[in-house]
Amino acid sequence: MFYPQEIIDQVIEANNIVDVIGSYVPLTKKGSTYFGLCPFHSEKTPSFSVTDNGSKQMFYCFGCHTGGSALTFIMKYENYSYSEALKVLADRAGITLPKPDYSQAVSERYKKKQRILDAYKDAAIYYVHLLRSERGANAYKYIKDRDLDDKTIRDFGLGYSDKYRDDLYQYLKKKGYTDEELKDTGLVSIRETDTHDYFWNRLMFPIMDTSNRVIAFGGRVLGQGEPKYLNSPETICFEKSRNLYGLNIAKRHKGKDLILVEGYMDVISLHQAGFTNAVASLGTALTDNHASVLKRYTDNVLISYDSDGAGQDAALRALPKLKSAGINAKVVDLNPYKDPDELIRALGADEYRKRLKEAVNGFIFEVGVLKRSYDLEDPGEKTRFGNEICNRLSYINDELEVENYLQVFCARYKLDYEIMSSKVKKLALGHEGVEYAPKTSGNNINKDNRQKDGLEQNQKMLLAHLANDPSLYEKLSKIIDESDFGLTPYDIIAKLMFNQFRQGKFNPAGIISSFEDCNDQEQAAQILYNDFADMDDETRKKALTDCVKKLKTNHISRMIEEEKDIVKILELKKEQEYLKKLVIFKE
Ligand code: CTP
Ligand code: MN
Repeated sequence: MFYPQEIIDQVIEANNIVDVIGSYVPLTKKGSTYFGLCPFHSEKTPSFSVTDNGSKQMFYCFGCHTGGSALTFIMKYENYSYSEALKVLADRAGITLPKPDYSQAVSERYKKKQRILDAYKDAAIYYVHLLRSERGANAYKYIKDRDLDDKTIRDFGLGYSDKYRDDLYQYLKKKGYTDEELKDTGLVSIRETDTHDYFWNRLMFPIMDTSNRVIAFGGRVLGQGEPKYLNSPETICFEKSRNLYGLNIAKRHKGKDLILVEGYMDVISLHQAGFTNAVASLGTALTDNHASVLKRYTDNVLISYDSDGAGQDAALRALPKLKSAGINAKVVDLNPYKDPDELIRALGADEYRKRLKEAVNGFIFEVGVLKRSYDLEDPGEKTRFGNEICNRLSYINDELEVENYLQVFCARYKLDYEIMSSKVKKLALGHEGVEYAPKTSGNNINKDNRQKDGLEQNQKMLLAHLANDPSLYEKLSKIIDESDFGLTPYDIIAKLMFNQFRQGKFNPAGIISSFEDCNDQEQAAQILYNDFADMDDETRKKALTDCVKKLKTNHISRMIEEEKDIVKILELKKEQEYLKKLVIFKE
């Protein structure tokens, strides 16, 4: 951080957010909230909201999920860095900022990050320029042959990297980047005898984060050649396991689903055909991190991976990850075409839309894949197949869900309904409350991640409830505080928030503004802006009680694991017992 937190708080407090944003976007008051047309995506009916209600001072767009404090707004709207935006707000309020304190490692890292982002932006501009020049004629013809139109090429910022050894290097040097800085980007390899660009004679796909900043590149050979795609390395700005290609555009989509595909061209082709809700995890298998990023934007994912063995396998592996992030997933059948791009080009958008409608539920898809390894003409194999279905069904807790699946499977595979049903019930008694985990994949890791995700979900929920109703603090602080969070993505927000509560001045805009990165600010805003309008009082209390107990129990479990003194362990266990019976909200 360049400035002390008090100064940031002071600047944020001195600017009313409605006045700040109102000077850029016309706002109309509805109830206690102001609405306007979102400047971050195109829309006809206002879903961009601003509130200066109580201490909130935040904005949030229900269309594209962009949100934050006045500082976030200026950063995004003006494309300013953190300090530039803070200066605008300080000037507005007549506050003189102290000299920024660059001494800390954090700021070093921030400066480095900014430099990498600048270099990627410049590289993207350079590649686009080349594609449009004489030198990019071949590449341009290649994209045209793949039926992409000029608007699509522009929207996705496609470019071309030339055949010369080091022309990007030369270009960026002229722009003032040092060798040291360029090494950090991974876009060039610098050696005494041999300096060359990473990408050579490729069609370039800039990879953007949700704030539309270029953070990486993919490069495709023109035609045949190995490797078909080359990706720029991870940097402090680019984590493969978190980034989804196309999400910067898809996040503005109004519908309720996101489509998950494998490749660059699938995303682009789908967007061009009107499916602007497509994103890709780009070659790497979908991770738990990807799943929780997706969960920020949707509850429903349509997996539209390649129809070959590898694609179907990847779908099988993605399903449990999506499920444990709380997402309903369905799987789209593309046969006989290999990927969405090929299907769309062969049969058109309407056929793809039809395929989306016919997408099958994840569980049914899994059983369908399972079926391929049994010969149902053979009675013994058919029995084993039936038993495996029963086994999997017996882990589902919802009776109605089990019933519905049974009906589908028994009809489809000609299995006896009565026998199957009674088998499932018997098996279920043996493992009540246990979740099904497939034997094939690394179980322990999966389970750990599942627990971690559940925990993070709970932490997020608790913070959201507290922000929505600060009066809860008095009651909850007797049971829980920031120390119960451990090391998670939410521990910083928790720390700031509990601190503010203790000092008796809750200021969510201050919390948001203490993050330097726009993406972090947005994530904080998503937590702090929730109003739980669709939750009645009783449900809210129940959810909150549940959440507090889980977090606390988990923290005590962690303490027990580290504790060596048996007396203390027993005390902690007693505390856990006590927690189970604790009533937080009396009738
Ligand atoms: N991929 C990669 N490296 C490779 C091959 C593939 O990173 N050597 C990633 C790319 O992100 C690619 C995705 O995996 O988009 C899917 O690969 P594939 O199905 O082989 O390519 P397509 O997307 O079908 O590419 P194209 O249509 O251009 O042939
Ligand atoms: Mn393809």
